[in-house]
Amino acid sequence: MQLISDPLEMRRWSRGHHASGKRIGLVPTMGYLHEGHLRLIDIVRNQTDLVVVSVFVNPTQFGPGEDFLTYPRDLARDRALLRDRGAHCVFVPETADMYDSDQMVTVVAGRLATHLCGPGRPGHFDGVLTIVAKLFNVVEPDVAVFGRKDYQQLLVIRQMVKDLNMDIEIVGEPTVREADGIAMSSRNSYLTSEQRPAALTLSQALNKAQEIIKGGERDSQTIIDAATELITSYPATTIDYISICDPETLVDLEIIDQPALMALAVKVGKTRLIDNMILDPQA
Ligand code: PAJ
Repeated sequence: MQLISDPLEMRRWSRGHHASGKRIGLVPTMGYLHEGHLRLIDIVRNQTDLVVVSVFVNPTQFGPGEDFLTYPRDLARDRALLRDRGAHCVFVPETADMYDSDQMVTVVAGRLATHLCGPGRPGHFDGVLTIVAKLFNVVEPDVAVFGRKDYQQLLVIRQMVKDLNMDIEIVGEPTVREADGIAMSSRNSYLTSEQRPAALTLSQALNKAQEIIKGGERDSQTIIDAATELITSYPATTIDYISICDPETLVDLEIIDQPALMALAVKVGKTRLIDNMILDPQA
């Protein structure tokens, strides 16, 4: 497995392989890898000849007071996991090589970012799209894969690719969970053993919502109230939002008469966790 940190060398590597007819897949990550990331590698490995995984903790998607400085990092461990999983190249750029001090132009996410995580994290999705666009331009992949755990992120990336005429296939993959149901996340490493039961209420609330719908309930607020009650039964939790919305536009739905996205963000202590599920009234 090749380790590349220079963006120009990365592009040369990709262009060399493209010239010999190889298809390249990209898995963008911020590192501290877990099974959720590694599953994305399996998917892209089946669709392409070569897999590039980028590991870069992107400063522009963190707001003031967020966890940029403390975000977990362990490149040696990540490299070993990636080698074992069959990645061909790991791209680990320096911040100064990705962001010129005089960079002025950025990508703006637009309307989709006015919902869910957008209001609580101003500028977050602009930062995500800017780095993803830069990674696409450096690696020039044929396919890039993202997790549906970050559902809104996947949606804004698809929108960027469409709106900016990028010739890259975007693949979205289901959320990988721990045995107890918690969605895997690098940030789970912040949780203490006392906080884990509180963190588990996110997936429990989603499962409960689907159960309530199965029982015939169609009113979003009733379901949101039940989820709120479950989550706030743990005093360590603070709800950022719980939303039931259209899976394409993210606009809130009052009545669930079609498959709907239920998405939530909850702080457990200082750790902000997100999760989501498609609620299906036909199920
Ligand atoms: P990061 O949080 O490291 O996630 C990298 C990729 O792994 C994303 O596509 C994310 O949705 C996916 N992922 C994380 N946890 C997952 C899980 N439990 N199941 C399935 N997929 C999961 O998302 C980012 O980094 C950054 O915003 C990035 C896109 C790299 C831009 O900086």
